[in-house]
This record gives sequence, structure tokens and C-alpha cells, in this order.
Amino acid sequence: MSRSIRRIVTRVVKLRARSTASLRDAATVIREGGLVAFPTETVYGLGASARNARAVKKIFTAKGRPSDNPLIVHVNSIRQARQLAHVTRDAEKLMKKFWPGPLTLVLKKKKGVPSAVTSGLSTVAIRMPSHPVARALIRMAGVPIAAPSANRAGRPSPTRAEHVLHDLDRRIDLILDGGPTRVGLESTVVDMTGFQPVILRPGKITAAAIARALRQWTAVGKSHSRPRSPGMKYRHYAPEAKLVLVEGPCERARKTIRRLYRDTTATGKRAAWIDFLQPAPARPAIDLGRTLPVVARKLFAALRDLDKEGVDIIFVRGVTERGIGAALMNRLRKAAAETIAV
Ligand code: TXA
Ligand code: MG
Repeated sequence: MSRSIRRIVTRVVKLRARSTASLRDAATVIREGGLVAFPTETVYGLGASARNARAVKKIFTAKGRPSDNPLIVHVNSIRQARQLAHVTRDAEKLMKKFWPGPLTLVLKKKKGVPSAVTSGLSTVAIRMPSHPVARALIRMAGVPIAAPSANRAGRPSPTRAEHVLHDLDRRIDLILDGGPTRVGLESTVVDMTGFQPVILRPGKITAAAIARALRQWTAVGKSHSRPRSPGMKYRHYAPEAKLVLVEGPCERARKTIRRLYRDTTATGKRAAWIDFLQPAPARPAIDLGRTLPVVARKLFAALRDLDKEGVDIIFVRGVTERGIGAALMNRLRKAAAETIAV
């Protein structure tokens, strides 16, 4: 796919407290049909004007993304969302409760949303991010911004500007560096077009929180008769190293990893072990943090760092699927070349 890429210079702009001029410049790039990577509270996005089909197509080329995997449109208000889609009452309730924030709603689209954005579907995914840079960019551009995560297709999502530069240097016009992102995992995606909401991708906003907000819906909709998110069929989030996920009670899983780690390094391969939570794992494990939100924030960067070090195999201990743990396990299972239950 890279055959048709026209190499361009990628500018990186570090944002400070008062960066209005840089944001205005970025907004102009968007309006003129260019590609700008920008921070959101979840991960960095690769944005183009959602009103410009040609610009949107450039996103797919730059990322090497299959064209049947639709994009999320980022808006700055519920009013802007209504211009793009039919907003149901339940959808409006969720918008009022969770926007701006890491919740994406799949809704019936209105005319005028280019099919390049939705990959030809009759629905469109919309979210209002809470990151001030993302909000300012959408406001100044004056158009909704279509943006997938700003990584090469299949790679872990970028949580720092340097990750974007690593993957997309000379493929996009501009990177707005707003520092590391806070949540670290992509937004929750909920399909609102059916009889009941269906979670297509778990994230920080949990099924339970959505159920509470709607006061009607008690179970997570996991209907297999409904189409799933097109993106879910692709392998995702994977580092170059082989990722082995070990699931089970903490001490049993750690014992298994210790053995596998020893066996692997004995063959001369470079292995790494990612672990977390109380009680602290013993060395040589890399400790990602004491709470699930902290682990979520640091996971993708850790996978990329290990690739940089040239590690061959990464062992990761699974976590309980509580709170953001469900999203963490979803990403780990997709990234894993092998899963071992103990
Ligand atoms: O946090 C996030 O959501 C980040 C930031 C940049 O906003 N974006 C992000 O985009 O993760 P992306 O493209 O990496 O993931 C979007 C997911 C894909 O799984 C895609 O298939 C799904 O949303 N999606 C998009 N439009 C859809 C639609 N109309 N129906 C069902 N799924 C859709
Ligand atoms: Mg992505």
C-alpha cells in the first residue's frame, strides 16, 4: 500500500499553555485537507476534516488501514453530533452524562457524511473528546474531525507524540505534542442503533456505568446476531515481539511466567515480563503500577519501549476484568499471539 505515498515533511509542534497560534495553524491544515495528529484524553488521534472525503482517504493510506474499517468522528458539541447523525433519546442521555469524555456512540448517519468515513455503513461513530487541545482544534477548524488512533495499522495506539512520529513520520503534515495521554486506552464504543445498546469495544466507561445512566438496561449487550465493530476482526495493538498472555490466580500465573521466562532466556532469546498490582511483583518483572487506571495509562508505551529494546518475547500477566480491567484484557487478548490459562 505504501507505493502511492507521497513523502512529506512531518512537523512536530510542542504545545505550551498559550499555543493559540499553533492550534490555529493546525486548524488551517485540517480545513485545507491535511492530516494532523493530536492528543485526546485516551490516545493520540490522526485527524482530517470529516467533510472532506479526499482528506479522509489520506488517513487510510498513511496508516495502512483497511478501507472497510470506519473512523470515529470527533465533535465539539451535541449540536454538531446532530448534524451528522440521528440522536436517539438514550444516546442523548449518554452524551449528557459522559461527554466530553471517552465514549463513542454508533448512530444512524445523516446525509453528507462521506462514505469514506463510515466505510459505506449507514451508521457513524461519534465522540466528543475532553482533551483541551482536541476541543480547541475541532472548534477552530470549524468542522467535525474524523480520526482513528494515530498508529500504523495493527500497532499499539500512541499515548505520546513520539509514538506517532515513530509510526507516521513523513506520512502526515503535523503532530501536536500535548504530552502523554491520561487514559491510555481507546474510548468505549457503544452501538446505539439496535433494540438495546451493545458494547462493541470496552473502555474506561464501563457497561455498568452505561447501564446506570440509562436506568433500564441491566446486562451488557453482547448479541452475536448484530454486526460487530468492523475493526474487531483485525489483529490489533500488537508489539513486534511475541506477546504471551498468562491468565489465572496471581501467584499461580507468576509462577508459570517465572518458569517460562527462565526457559526462554536459557535459549538465548530476550524475554520481558510485564506485571502489576499488589503485592509488587519480584524482579525481573516490569511493574506497571498499583491500580488498574495506572496500568491502563502505561501499557501501550511499555509495549513500544520493549520493541525498541529488541525484546523477542513478552510475558504479560492478566488482570481481573473489573472497571477498566475489562478494556485492558480486551486489548491484551487482541495483542496476544498466545494465551495460557493456569
Ligand atoms: O479513543 C478513541 O476512540 C481514539 C481517539 C483518537 O478518539 N480513536 C480510536 O479510533 O480508537 P480507531 O479508529 O482506532 O477505532 C475506532 C473503532 C474501530 O474498531 C472501528 O471499527 C469502530 O470504532 N467503528 C467506527 N465506526 C463504526 C461504525 N459505524 N460502526 C461500528 N463500529 C465502528
Ligand atoms: Mg486504532
